[in-house]
Amino acid sequence: MRPWTSKPIIFLIAGGLLIVLGTFLCLFSATIFHEILGKEMILSKTSKGYEVWKDSSSLPPMYLEIYFFNWTNPEELTVPGKKPILVEVGPYSFAEVRQKVNVTFHPENNTVSYFQRRSWYFDQEHSNGSLEDSITQLNAVAVSAAHKIRYWSSFFQNTVSYVLSTKANISVTKTVDELLFTGYEDTIINMGKVAVAEEVPPFDRFGWFYKRNGSIDFDGHYNMDTGAGDISNLGLLRNWNYKDTTNYFKSPCNVLEGSAGEFWPPYQTEDDIRFYSVDLCRTVTLQFARKSSFLDIPGNRYSLAEKTLGNNTKRRYPHEQAKYFEVTTTTEDFFESEHSAEVTQMPEDTEDPDVVNLGNCYCNGQCTPDGLINITSCRYGAPAFVSLPHFYKADPILRDGIVGMNPNEEDHDFYITLEPTTGIPLQVAARLQVNILLQPSQIRLFQNVPKIYFPMFWFSMKVEAPKDLASDLKYFLLLPNICFGGGIVTVILGSLIVLSVIFFLVVKKQRTNNPEPLKTETTNNAPTKKAELVYMDKVNTEDDSHVRNDRRLYPKFY
Ligand SMILES: *[C@@H]1O[C@H](CO)[C@@H](O)[C@H](O)[C@H]1NC(C)=O
Ligand SMILES: *[C@@H]1O[C@H](CO)[C@@H](O)[C@H](O)[C@H]1NC(C)=O
Ligand SMILES: *[C@@H]1O[C@H](CO)[C@@H](O)[C@H](O)[C@H]1NC(C)=O
Ligand SMILES: *[C@@H]1O[C@H](CO)[C@@H](O)[C@H](O)[C@H]1NC(C)=O
Ligand SMILES: *[C@@H]1O[C@H](CO)[C@@H](O)[C@H](O)[C@H]1NC(C)=O
Ligand SMILES: *[C@@H]1O[C@H](CO)[C@@H](O)[C@H](O)[C@H]1NC(C)=O
Repeated sequence: MRPWTSKPIIFLIAGGLLIVLGTFLCLFSATIFHEILGKEMILSKTSKGYEVWKDSSSLPPMYLEIYFFNWTNPEELTVPGKKPILVEVGPYSFAEVRQKVNVTFHPENNTVSYFQRRSWYFDQEHSNGSLEDSITQLNAVAVSAAHKIRYWSSFFQNTVSYVLSTKANISVTKTVDELLFTGYEDTIINMGKVAVAEEVPPFDRFGWFYKRNGSIDFDGHYNMDTGAGDISNLGLLRNWNYKDTTNYFKSPCNVLEGSAGEFWPPYQTEDDIRFYSVDLCRTVTLQFARKSSFLDIPGNRYSLAEKTLGNNTKRRYPHEQAKYFEVTTTTEDFFESEHSAEVTQMPEDTEDPDVVNLGNCYCNGQCTPDGLINITSCRYGAPAFVSLPHFYKADPILRDGIVGMNPNEEDHDFYITLEPTTGIPLQVAARLQVNILLQPSQIRLFQNVPKIYFPMFWFSMKVEAPKDLASDLKYFLLLPNICFGGGIVTVILGSLIVLSVIFFLVVKKQRTNNPEPLKTETTNNAPTKKAELVYMDKVNTEDDSHVRNDRRLYPKFY
């Protein structure tokens, strides 16, 4: 007897294999999915998103929408009881194209290096106004000049004071194009070049986006993790401008942390997410706000909130990060000095040497009310402060000094909604407002002005996952379920086969043991008799199939 030539045994083995395979699929569907996910998400030259990451021009356009605050009563600035009236105009809409230049993969440390070039194209159709619209703003150049020289000797201050009061006005009226990309000439800029050697912008004109259109190096040099070593590191910014710290803030606030802002690792929880923002020169924390959904895909919404906007946010920095602190200071020394400045506010936290008040190290000296981010140190010393548009989520005191702020979540929140399993962004709304600090000074032009964080403009960049990506994503997310379901079906199929074979064998055995009823039956019915006889023949062949091979064909015809 050769069991492997016997059909029931083959079926049994096949059924058994199916059961094993099915069980395997069920048990490991999550692991299999994880493997596929890990492979799919890694950034490489062949990965799905690579081409559009390298050049976004084939994607539907992303719009940078800019809103200006048109200052309608500059002549009333020093009139007691009057507040600056700011009228929001816009949006002025620009299609943004992002390209990566000099993309170099470093497989040895699982990173990729690149420069980012951003270009903007005015889109009249999506705008409410034209580039020729004229806007009146606070004279940011004059305010910056006055701010910079506030600690100079009075001789120099008087000289500048004279120049400013003859050459400059407290407000400027320019076109949208000049204010943004073309820039405008200003005598103070040229004067500043002569007077101060260091900390002067390398620009001959002033414009909020002057020289940024199409610039390769403005955003700096990025070194980002591709996730090839560990998928949970996907998108992390490792180095920026060849370093993992910046000069803009005191340690440890100068540490690069989080994503470069484009890729997020899979398996997001409700923990905070972080990214490094070139515009803000710092790491920004987005806090879980709520569950949300986009095109029926559930997501986690993270938004900019008090951990970034507050001036008194404490955070644990583990000792292993102490390498980032200044060489001359030990971790303990560092926190010691931080604490001594603000002892009153943190009674219990002082006991933990790893807790640092981020508010302090981001203040760079003088703290601001909640809701402002001091970017003075990375804007050539201009007193620039970033907030959410209309001072949303900010200390109401900031809105008190001016007329025209109407914050609301729908239009002014800064958030990212991530699909938690894959970490793919479903919706991004990046919105920030740029403010200039106006305050009284020795300079004649600014002698009697009130202290105001003066809103200049705000922008919104809202991007949503394209529909086709969303539907692909939906199916991809079903994969573990499909895998699991397939496993169950396979197990059931295998079990059915095994059961039928067992049933078949049992029936067969019974019939071999009691051949009597068959014989009596055959006498009653002629056609059945023939068939049953054949069947019995076949049973007999099993024992000595090698001799009576010919008969085995009969059951097939039956
Ligand atoms: C800004 O305000 C001035 C008057 O203060 C007005 O002439 C100008 O048209 C306004 N600009 C826009 C774009 O509405
Ligand atoms: C366009 O701007 C004007 C004021 O500049 C405003 O009154 C109007 O509501 C805006 N229209 C849209 C569609 O936003
Ligand atoms: C930006 O530069 C591109 C080409 O370099 C040009 O076509 C476009 O008009 C510029 N955008 C603005 C807003 O100046
Ligand atoms: C990875 O290696 C490249 C090339 O040697 C280097 O430029 C980059 O800084 C390295 N990145 C990290 C995080 O070490
Ligand atoms: C903002 O930062 C600058 C430079 O980093 C610092 O001199 C200033 O005191 C800070 N705070 C305010 C309110 O200006
Ligand atoms: C921090 O913000 C709060 C709320 O805006 C404000 O009352 C407080 O004065 C600020 N702290 C400092 C040191 O400026």
